[in-house]
Amino acid sequence: MEGAFLFVFLSTLQIFLSKCLASTDTLSQSQSILNNQTLVSASESFKLGFFSPSNSSMNRYLGIWFNKISNRTVVWVANRNHPLTDSSGILKLNENRNLVLLNGTNSVIWSSSSSEHTKADDPVIVQLLDSGNLVLRYESNNDPENYIWQSFDYPLDSLIPGMKLGRNLETGFSRNLTSWKNDNDPSPGDFTGWIDPRGFPQLVVNQGSIRVGRAGPWNGVRFSGSPELNSHPVFKPFFVFNKEEVYTGFERTSNSIISRFVMDQSGVLQLRTWNEHKLEWTVLQTVQKDRCDNYGVCGAYGLCNINNSPVCSCLEGFKPKSQEDWDQMDWSGGCTLKTKLDCLNGDGFVKVTSMKLPDTSESILNVSMNHNECRTECLKNCSCVAYANSDIREGGSGCVMWFSDLVDIKKFPVNGQDLYLRMAASELGRMGDSGKKSRQTAVMISASIVLGILISGLAFWLIIWRQRGKDQNNLCEENTDEIQKNELELPTFDFLTIATATNNFSCNNKLGEGGFGPVYKGKLVNGQEIAVKKLSKKSGQGIHEFQNEVILIAKLQHRNLVRLLGCCIQRHETMLIYEYMPNKSLDSFIFDQARSTLINWEKRFNIIIGIAQGLLYLHRDSRLRIIHRDLKASNVLLDEAMKPKISDFGMARTFGGDQIEENTDRVVGTYGYMAPEYAIDGLFSVKSDVFSFGVLVLEIVSGKKNRGFEHRDHDLNLLGHAWKLWKEGTALKLIDTSIEDSLQTSEVLRCIHVGLLCVQQRPDDRPNMPYVVLMLSSETVSLPQPNQPGFYNERSLVEVDSSSSGKMFSSNEITFTSIQGR
Ligand SMILES: *[C@@H]1O[C@H](CO)[C@@H](O)[C@H](O)[C@H]1NC(C)=O
Ligand SMILES: *[C@@H]1O[C@H](CO)[C@@H](O)[C@H](O)[C@H]1NC(C)=O
Ligand SMILES: *[C@@H]1O[C@H](CO)[C@@H](O)[C@H](O)[C@H]1NC(C)=O
Ligand SMILES: *[C@@H]1O[C@H](CO)[C@@H](O)[C@H](O)[C@H]1NC(C)=O
Ligand SMILES: *[C@@H]1O[C@H](CO)[C@@H](O)[C@H](O)[C@H]1NC(C)=O
Ligand SMILES: *[C@@H]1O[C@H](CO)[C@@H](O)[C@H](O)[C@H]1NC(C)=O
Ligand SMILES: *[C@@H]1O[C@H](CO)[C@@H](O)[C@H](O)[C@H]1NC(C)=O
Repeated sequence: MEGAFLFVFLSTLQIFLSKCLASTDTLSQSQSILNNQTLVSASESFKLGFFSPSNSSMNRYLGIWFNKISNRTVVWVANRNHPLTDSSGILKLNENRNLVLLNGTNSVIWSSSSSEHTKADDPVIVQLLDSGNLVLRYESNNDPENYIWQSFDYPLDSLIPGMKLGRNLETGFSRNLTSWKNDNDPSPGDFTGWIDPRGFPQLVVNQGSIRVGRAGPWNGVRFSGSPELNSHPVFKPFFVFNKEEVYTGFERTSNSIISRFVMDQSGVLQLRTWNEHKLEWTVLQTVQKDRCDNYGVCGAYGLCNINNSPVCSCLEGFKPKSQEDWDQMDWSGGCTLKTKLDCLNGDGFVKVTSMKLPDTSESILNVSMNHNECRTECLKNCSCVAYANSDIREGGSGCVMWFSDLVDIKKFPVNGQDLYLRMAASELGRMGDSGKKSRQTAVMISASIVLGILISGLAFWLIIWRQRGKDQNNLCEENTDEIQKNELELPTFDFLTIATATNNFSCNNKLGEGGFGPVYKGKLVNGQEIAVKKLSKKSGQGIHEFQNEVILIAKLQHRNLVRLLGCCIQRHETMLIYEYMPNKSLDSFIFDQARSTLINWEKRFNIIIGIAQGLLYLHRDSRLRIIHRDLKASNVLLDEAMKPKISDFGMARTFGGDQIEENTDRVVGTYGYMAPEYAIDGLFSVKSDVFSFGVLVLEIVSGKKNRGFEHRDHDLNLLGHAWKLWKEGTALKLIDTSIEDSLQTSEVLRCIHVGLLCVQQRPDDRPNMPYVVLMLSSETVSLPQPNQPGFYNERSLVEVDSSSSGKMFSSNEITFTSIQGR
C-alpha cells in the first residue's frame, strides 16, 4: 500500500518536474527527459526531443530541430545508429556525469562518452543553446572552451552557423558532414562532405572512399571551385587554416533567415534556406552544379567547360592521350603534353585564366611566397608542373605548386583563377604570337596610364597653385565649442585642418549642395581624400540632427554605408568628415543621359543588391536598428569600384527591438520617395524605407525619376507607369534604353517585380529587407504578385502639397522638413 502511494507520489513528482522542464533549456543532474518532453533553447530557436522520422515505423530518435519551422527539420541526432524501438526512451545525466540515453530496460543506447571528469564536485548541466548546440558543461563555467561535450562536435548532414566542418590538426579530430541513409533513417549514408587537410586544404565530397566532388581550396574569398558559394546576403562562408586547425563554416547574417549547409542524400553539397511562404527548403547554392563538377570527368590535364560541346578538351599545349577514346567521348585517359618538357634547356609557363584550381591534395603550399618567388621555385624543380596564387585577394599572393598530374580542372565563364602551366620553351614559342600581341597591348596601356597620371598630377598642381592666391577670409573664429565633443567616440578634426584640406572651402572644391548645406572635397596632409559636409546655419539640420547623425553613423560599420571619419565642431560651424566617394552619387549617373551608359545592367544590379544589403544592415543587423527615412538616389554614393554606399543619416531614427511603427509630428523625407502612410499620417516604419527602396529600384531600372516623370499617354508617375506596364505584361518596356545591350532579362524582371512589391500601398504587403535581399539574390525564390502601388498617380497632388506653407525647402530636389500641425 505504502509502495503504491510512493509510486503515485513519484510519478506526480515526475510529471511536475516534466512540466517545469518544458519551459527550460537546461537539464540538471536530478532531471530527465522522457519520450514526449523537450528542451527549448532560450529564444526558442531550437528544440530537443524524441522524434520519429517522417513515415515512421516505431523507431524513435533523440534529436535537435529548428523550433520556428513548421515542418520539422532535424539538424542533429544522438542515436543515429541505434534507434529506440518504442517510446520508453529517457535522456538523463548519469552518475558518471555523462549524458546518456536509456531504453525501457535501462540499457544505454547512446552516451556522450567524454573522458573529462576530473573536477568531481563541480555540478554539471546540459543546456540547449540558441545556436542549436547541446552542451554538457560545469554549471559554474559558461566558457565554450571548457564545455565537457557538445553536439556541434558531432555533425550529421547539416552545418549551421557556429558549427565547424574540418579537422583539428593537432589531435586529428574531424568533423565531417555525412548524409542520412534515407528520409526515415539518419544512420550514415553514402556521402561525406569533408575538408581534406592534405596539401592545400580543400572542401570535397566522397562517396565511400571515392572522391566524387570538390569545392576546392579556399582562395581567400571563396572556394576555388564554387564561385557562387561566395559571400551572399544570407550566407557568409569563412575558412580558418592555421597550425592548430583547418575548418570552414558560415556566419549567421540575419536572424530572420534560416539556412543550413547540407550533405544531401543524392551526394550534392548545398546551401538551403527556409522559405516561410512556400514552407520548403530552397536551394540557394550547390557545390556540384553541372557535369563538370563530377570529379575528374575529363581526366588528367583535361579541361571541362560546360558551355562547350563536348564539355571536355585538353589544356593548352596538351593533346588527348588516346585520340580514339577521346573521339568516343571517353575522356578518362586524359591528356598529355604536345611537346615534352625540357627542364635543362629551359621551360616557361603559359597562363590559363578563369580556372577552378586542380585537385590540391598533393600540391605544396607556401603562403608567404609571392608570385615571382612561386614562379622561380616552380621553374627550379623539374617535376613542378604548375603553380598558382593561393590567395587571390589584393592582386594575389601565396603559392601553390603541383608535382603530379593535374586533375579536375574546370573553366568558368567569369571569376575563375589564373593557373600557370609548365611548357617547353619551344612549345611556348609556337603559342607565342598571340601572347606577344597581348604583351604589347599591356605595355601600351601602362604607358598611357603613366601619362594620364602625369597629366592629372600637373592639372592638380596647377589648381593648387591658382588657389593659393585666392582670398583667405573664409576662415571662421577659432574658438572651439567643447560641449558635444566628449560624448562622441569619434575623432574630432580641428577647424584649421579641415580648412586647409578643402582649400578654405573654395568653390573649386565644392562637390555639391546637400539638403543641409554644401559638401566639399578635401585632402588631408597625409594624402587621404575626404568629403566635408558643412552644415549651414540656416539649414533644417540643427544641432539635434547633427548629433543624431554623428552618434548613429559612428556606430555603424558596413561596406554599403558611407564611413564617417570624424567631425568638426566650432561655435557656429558643424561639419562631418566622410570618406571621399570619387564617383559621387547615384543620381549623377542614372538620370544623366551621357553618364547613364557608364553603368551597364550588371553594375546596376550590383548597386541594387548593395543598397539592399546596406538597408538590411540598418534595419536588422546593426546593434541599433535604424530607419533611414530619406533613402533616395542622391543619398547613395558610389566608390571607385562603383559599389554603393548609403549616406545621410541626419534623419534616421532608431527604433526599439519590437517596436514596429512610430508616429512623428515632424515629417522629413523627399517627395517621390515617401511612402503614403508616412507623407500623409507621419507614420514611419521599416516599411516606409522599403517603399523608398522600391522607388529607387524602379528608378535604377528605368533611368527615370519618379518625381517629375512624364509620359505622353497618361498622367501617372513612374510607379504608376511601372504598375501599368506590369499589368499589361510589358514590364521590360520600363528599361532604360542605355542599358538594353547588357541585359539579363530575368534579373531585370526580378528587380522590377521586387520594386513593385516594395512600393505597394499597404505597408503590411511590402516585404521586409531580409526577404527583399533573398528575393533579389536567389533565382529560386518565387515571388508573390504585387498589389497596387501607393502614390501611383499622385503627381499633381504632390505638386500642390509641396507648395503649401509650413514646409521648408533648402533647394530643389531636396529633402524637406515639415512641421505638421497635429
Ligand atoms: C506522453 O506519451 C504517452 C504515451 O507515450 C501518452 O500516453 C501521454 O499522454 C503523453 N503525455 C503528454 C503530456 O502528451
Ligand atoms: C511515406 O509513405 C508513403 C505511403 O506509404 C510513400 O508513398 C512515401 O514515399 C513514403 N515517404 C518516405 C520518405 O519514405
Ligand atoms: C534495451 O536495449 C537492450 C540492449 O540493446 C535490449 O536487450 C533490450 O531489449 C532493450 N529494451 C527495450 C525495452 O527495448
Ligand atoms: C571523416 O573524418 C575522419 C576522421 O574522423 C577522417 O579520417 C575521414 O577521412 C573523413 N572523411 C571521410 C570521407 O570519411
Ligand atoms: C511543410 O508543411 C506544409 C503544411 O503542413 C506542407 O504543405 C508542405 O508541403 C511541407 N513542406 C515540406 C517540404 O515537407
Ligand atoms: C616559404 O617561402 C619562404 C619565402 O620564400 C621561405 O623562406 C620559407 O622557408 C618557405 N616555407 C616552406 C615551408 O617551404
Ligand atoms: C622537387 O619537389 C619535389 C616535391 O617537393 C621533391 O620531392 C623533389 O626532391 C624536388 N626536386 C628537386 C630537384 O628539388
